[in-house]
Amino acid sequence: MSRLVVVSNRVALPGEDRAGGLAVGLGAALGAHGGVWFGWSGKVVREDGGRLHEQVEGDVRYVTVDLDRRDHDDYYNGFANRTLWPLLHSRLDLVDYARETREGYRRVNALFADRLAPLLRDDDLVWIHDYHLIPLAALLRERGVACRIGFFLHVPMPSADLVSALPDHARLFGTFYAYDLLGFQTTRDADRFRTYARIYGQASLADNGAVVLPNSRVVQVGAFPIGIDVARIVGQAAAAVSKPAVRALRDSLSERQLAIGVDRLDYSKGLPERFRAFGRYIERHPGERGRLTLLQIAPVSRGDVAEYRHLRDQLEGIAGHINGTHAEPDWTPLRYVNRNFAHATLTGFYRAARVGLVTPLRDGMNLVAKEYVAAQDPEDPGVLVLSMLAGAAAELDAGALLVNPYDLDGVADAIARASAMPLAERRERWHAMMQPVKRQDIHAWCRDFLDRLAGLAA
Ligand code: G6P
Repeated sequence: MSRLVVVSNRVALPGEDRAGGLAVGLGAALGAHGGVWFGWSGKVVREDGGRLHEQVEGDVRYVTVDLDRRDHDDYYNGFANRTLWPLLHSRLDLVDYARETREGYRRVNALFADRLAPLLRDDDLVWIHDYHLIPLAALLRERGVACRIGFFLHVPMPSADLVSALPDHARLFGTFYAYDLLGFQTTRDADRFRTYARIYGQASLADNGAVVLPNSRVVQVGAFPIGIDVARIVGQAAAAVSKPAVRALRDSLSERQLAIGVDRLDYSKGLPERFRAFGRYIERHPGERGRLTLLQIAPVSRGDVAEYRHLRDQLEGIAGHINGTHAEPDWTPLRYVNRNFAHATLTGFYRAARVGLVTPLRDGMNLVAKEYVAAQDPEDPGVLVLSMLAGAAAELDAGALLVNPYDLDGVADAIARASAMPLAERRERWHAMMQPVKRQDIHAWCRDFLDRLAGLAA
């Protein structure tokens, strides 16, 4: 079996909180194959960027690299999160393009390639993750790396015309062709990539959906919907009921129902719209007043980026307005919390919630949706209200109440419907969601992608 080399901007180091599904899945795959996990160390240093750190656990080496302030600003805060992130989430209005940060992004990818290339062997399987590292395979190829390299895009692939608004898009998106296999979250994302490649990327399409270049090089393209560690979450959620934080939450609700949202504080998550829709629910369903409390957990994310700071200010205003307008002496409709919680505690919160609100404006997959489902009590499950613009909607559409997050009245009515749904319908819907969640878990995702990559000729 080939060795596996995983590359991602963030690395889940041994001993750190590895609760994230991706860390568990990739950790298991690395454990089975033996190999290397390579990425940014998480450290921003004053000088001496590029320094490597290494940790070994079992057959797995964790190799990470420091970034200096300027590289981090241009690459992470700049091109990755102020240019590519909004573009890939169809927010052209928020795209900030500067040649300088584009150059910093290339520089950091070249640094990764310089440091990684000497560690690679010809029969390795290299798996690169996400929008931070799109050009990495091309830069590795320039350094003589010939092994099989796959890429998975965790975020959405937008429509071709949107991508065409990015200055110099062909140069960046052309580097996708250095991969052997490109994985996307849904068939629609994969199709949008194919369309881009055909219209703007001089490619034609093979019958199996592969992209074929004028020089006859073939790049395989597929949909690999990411999943969660189902067994772990089911166990955690059942056990979490007795955790003090979960008990305290339940006690504080008295007899009221709970609706929950858990999201990084990110404009793609549709939080202002969600808050407003919740206010609309209270207004449109006066008979339900006081029946439901919304707990929104939103840990601060990418706080150095201006758009994220602006969002935080905006949400504080809306939350204050909703509570100021609707609260009673004994009822605060919206509890808005910026801190993070241990993952096991969150699963307990999910289980305590009659309504799961997952209403992003655009999302590659959204694993909170799947975790909410897995965390439910099968005898008395809650209802998922899910944005049709999240990748997860493609799998969970049989059981979730699908909403358009821009339609505030629609979201408001879905909240009311979820809150009043009879037990038999809740169970039926939950089963319809739990099946795909179980089938396509994080281990199946890893296996499907790596089997496909390993099956390609080196
Ligand atoms: C998204 C991206 C990931 C990223 C995560 C957290 O899920 O697809 O690549 O790691 O957000 O964002 P952060 O900027 O904190 O790494």
